[in-house]
Amino acid sequence: MTAGAVRGLSMPVLRFNGVFLLLLLFGLSLGTSPSFSVDYKNNCFRKDGEQFRYISGSIHYSRIPRAYWKDRLLKMYMAGLNAIQTYVPWNYHEESPGQYDFSGDRDVQYFLKLTQEIGLFVILRPGPYICAEWDMGGLPSWLLNKKNIVLRSSDADYIAAVDKWMGKLLPMMKPYLYQNGGPIITVQVENEYGSYFACDYNYMRHLTKLFRAHLGDEVVLFTTDGAGVNYLKCGSIQDLYATVDFGPGANITAAFEAQRHAEPYGPLVNSEFYTGWLDHWGSRHSVVSSALVAKSLSRMLAVEANVNL
Ligand SMILES: *[C@@H]1O[C@H](CO)[C@@H](O)[C@H](O)[C@H]1NC(C)=O
Repeated sequence: MTAGAVRGLSMPVLRFNGVFLLLLLFGLSLGTSPSFSVDYKNNCFRKDGEQFRYISGSIHYSRIPRAYWKDRLLKMYMAGLNAIQTYVPWNYHEESPGQYDFSGDRDVQYFLKLTQEIGLFVILRPGPYICAEWDMGGLPSWLLNKKNIVLRSSDADYIAAVDKWMGKLLPMMKPYLYQNGGPIITVQVENEYGSYFACDYNYMRHLTKLFRAHLGDEVVLFTTDGAGVNYLKCGSIQDLYATVDFGPGANITAAFEAQRHAEPYGPLVNSEFYTGWLDHWGSRHSVVSSALVAKSLSRMLAVEANVNL
């Protein structure tokens, strides 16, 4: 990623006089380290000082054999996306307590290396809950060995398991943060927590502290919730940038107004723009009109929103 920054700067440099060139090279060699942040003043993301907007696509490495990862990522790049978004399913990596598997199709670090090689940024969603994308939101079934466990809450046994898992996963992710020379620009905490009954702020505070402890103070942490003020009430919390999700049928103005309720300033973000929808067994296959997707997408782009398809 630093290569990109250097390339971007070196073109105009050639046209300047020698002193300027030296000053710039000096500045570069001092290593203004890679940075990625929320710019609350200009309502955008900022990457290495430059305004930045992502148009991203979801891809789940856990659904694709490793041999196809590069092919799929390359196709996403060729489709014009500049970032990908992926979940990390807890149950996929810790099938039994304390038995971690990051080999073969589970080698998420290799997946991150490939995305960087291809030139895509990464929006990482390590959960611990990952919604309907897997049974029980990707939480390992062994958590249910404790009969009265309250998942996604301050339940002591749940928290102990989360701490242990994140203590394994997040240090592995840290070298892949943009600030550390990797492709990960933002990291999501939990998922659509505002849709869950518990509304346990202490749980969200705990996760925030846990993610910060492992990943540092610089990385942009965020939440995603349905585009309604009611969802954002229990889903958003201080220090996590609040984003929303909605499909092509939504009223974009109203949806982003909901985000603005939680985040008066900063970039507009639709973290899940539904180009399709899930199928229920026995029901008709869900299809979304591509014309509607294109229309809705271009409206979001017109208001300078960031979007993940
Ligand atoms: C969309 O939402 C905005 C803001 O809430 C509202 O003013 C507008 O009438 C809505 N548009 C439609 C077509 O419902």
